[in-house]
Amino acid sequence: MKINLALVISIIGAVGLLAFGFTAFQISSERQLLNTELETKTIQESEVFYKAHFSQIGKEDSFHFKDITDSLIAQYRFSGLAVYYNNDSLVALNPAAEPYLKYSTDYIAQALAADSSMGNLMSIHGKKLYEYIRLINKRDLPESAIIFYVDADYISNIVKSIWLRNFIRWFLQALVISVVTLLVVRWGILAPLNRVVEWVKAVRFGNADQLKKRPRINFLEPLYKEISGIAQAMQEAKAIAQEEAQLRTTGEAVWTHERLNEEMKQVLQDKIMVVVSNREPYMHVHAGKEIKCIVPASGMVTAMEPILKACGGLWIASGSGDADRETVDKHDKVQVPPYEGKYTLRRIWLTREQENHYYYGFSNEGLWPLCHIAHTRPIFRKEDWDYYQEVNELYAKAVLEEIKDQEEPFILVQDYHFALLPKLIKDQRPDAKVAIFWHIPWPNPESFGICPWQRELLRGMLGGDLIGFHTQFHCNNFLETVNTSLESRVIWENFSVKIGNHFTLVKPFPISISFTLKDYESDDGPKEDPAELLKQHGLHAQYMGIGVDRLGYTKGLIEKFLAIERFLEKYAGYRGKFTFVQIAAPSRSLLKSYADITSAVENEVNRINWKFKSKNWQPILFLKRHHSHEEIKPYYKSADLCMITSLHDGMNLVAKEFIASRSGNDGVLILSRFAGASQELHGALIINPYDVEQTADSIKEALEMPKLQQGQKMKLMRRVIMGHNVYSWASNILRAMATIQN
Ligand code: G6P
Repeated sequence: MKINLALVISIIGAVGLLAFGFTAFQISSERQLLNTELETKTIQESEVFYKAHFSQIGKEDSFHFKDITDSLIAQYRFSGLAVYYNNDSLVALNPAAEPYLKYSTDYIAQALAADSSMGNLMSIHGKKLYEYIRLINKRDLPESAIIFYVDADYISNIVKSIWLRNFIRWFLQALVISVVTLLVVRWGILAPLNRVVEWVKAVRFGNADQLKKRPRINFLEPLYKEISGIAQAMQEAKAIAQEEAQLRTTGEAVWTHERLNEEMKQVLQDKIMVVVSNREPYMHVHAGKEIKCIVPASGMVTAMEPILKACGGLWIASGSGDADRETVDKHDKVQVPPYEGKYTLRRIWLTREQENHYYYGFSNEGLWPLCHIAHTRPIFRKEDWDYYQEVNELYAKAVLEEIKDQEEPFILVQDYHFALLPKLIKDQRPDAKVAIFWHIPWPNPESFGICPWQRELLRGMLGGDLIGFHTQFHCNNFLETVNTSLESRVIWENFSVKIGNHFTLVKPFPISISFTLKDYESDDGPKEDPAELLKQHGLHAQYMGIGVDRLGYTKGLIEKFLAIERFLEKYAGYRGKFTFVQIAAPSRSLLKSYADITSAVENEVNRINWKFKSKNWQPILFLKRHHSHEEIKPYYKSADLCMITSLHDGMNLVAKEFIASRSGNDGVLILSRFAGASQELHGALIINPYDVEQTADSIKEALEMPKLQQGQKMKLMRRVIMGHNVYSWASNILRAMATIQN
């Protein structure tokens, strides 16, 4: 409002000043013109008048004043006439001239003295007059003059009318200019500015999307640029501050191996913790004349190893390396990791028959396909089941032996190889706190129901105090299976099962990897160029994808390669530019189902490579051998994307390891919705591996995802993993075990 008033006043003032200046100038020239015109006309008319009526003066005896009548004067423009003669006789020739005479005497004297006719503008009582002194010819009548009076009031009237006209013009101009200016200001400036103010407000409240939604006003473009720059800088600073604050708070809450160690001391006090699994964390194998120690490809090992390293204890597992026997002491024990000796590994020796029937047969041809809905039929043989029981008893014996002098030991059993172990231990040692963690999925009751020994398996597991799965969904499937097949009470309020007087708690514990705040913040050097890695294999490509899987039918490898083929068909521009590196660790290769999938996968790789390959490029690099973590890391770190296409998976720790390796907060994870990890890693591109089109499109989306978006997603997932690392997993299980009342 203030601006409007000031604008109007300024406009009126400026226009008025201009109008006044112009009018004053116009009037002065007009007045001059009118005066000159009056003067000229008066002289001309007086001459005409003189010649007509006074030319005989002096030739006769006297003036014939009476001849100059009022009507004669009225024929001319004169207001009055007078005659000056005989040195001081000034006579009005008509009555109208009478009042003017006394004002003319001085001027007459001047004219006579100058001996020249003269005119002069005079004002008598507000009346304007022009007097013209016409000298009479000396010879005829010396020292005599005729005085003509002409009305000059009309000049003032003209001047007044000019003032009035110009005032009205000024007023109208000022009005129109003010109104137009106000409208322009209102619609052209204030309205857009108000929209900009609203936009700036929205931006200020941190709505990043608003930055893009700016009002389209051309003349404000430079302003937008500046404001967008400032807003972006502010948002970045805010995000950094928020992140730092969050990290400070989460930093205090993040579990580390030291913190777990302290927790274990408090929870366990002087009690022992025993971990039991089929797969051992370290295998000793002959390599030429030397013995090498390798870490097998197993999600279970990846998860459990950091816990044992942090807290010590005893791990009982099958010795499966061909140099394992040579590296244990007389109690079949060895300190691991090599040269660090953080905990004890006790190896159990299985006979070939036991291994065939318990491990290959019942565990991997029966339970594994039973629990993974991956369309490979489970096979249940009575002989396998007998050996499964036998090996579970063998392990129970070993555990009981180890805990015989220990009070209230904590026993943490791993996986589907030992479904019977919890009951076998608990029957002998009711004081022990026994938990079993099932690393693979649990199917619905109908699927599980095809196992001829489902009741025995369930009873074996429910003999323990705690059963853990990766997800609540698997817990629910388990409880429903119990509900439909056992005489028991499922208490849904607290997800437990009561058989007789014994309670077993069934809880989800999503497993993870060792990834702490230190790892989150550390930048372990520049990442390798994917082109360099591929060069080592004689290939050249601009973009690289990575997959790391055990070579099995649950990993969806065929589906993955079909998606790559489709991607190259649909988006031909990527041919010659994108190579997918598939690291595949051979697994359970003695089984037909694994031998079949291996050759099927290899055939598929060859077919697709043959279809597209060029001189130095092929779409899939298939590396079929066991790779150590150190060997895999450069691929994780430098790939543009990691693709996990499991048809069914308990968790899938490869997803989490890939994310942990991305200290630069870039790269994209494509993750199957059938892997437990998809419940936690919301920053991944979630796919259905059976949907080849969707997976192919997500490869393109991953490769073309802007770095900013990659960073946001990656950071989010890194935080999730940091907040739920394997140390927090272990502490949750331990705390749950500690609350068990025997
Ligand atoms: C999965 C299972 C583990 C198993 C691993 C490797 O991750 O949950 O218990 O150790 O596969 O299989 P393998 O048969 O080689 O031990």
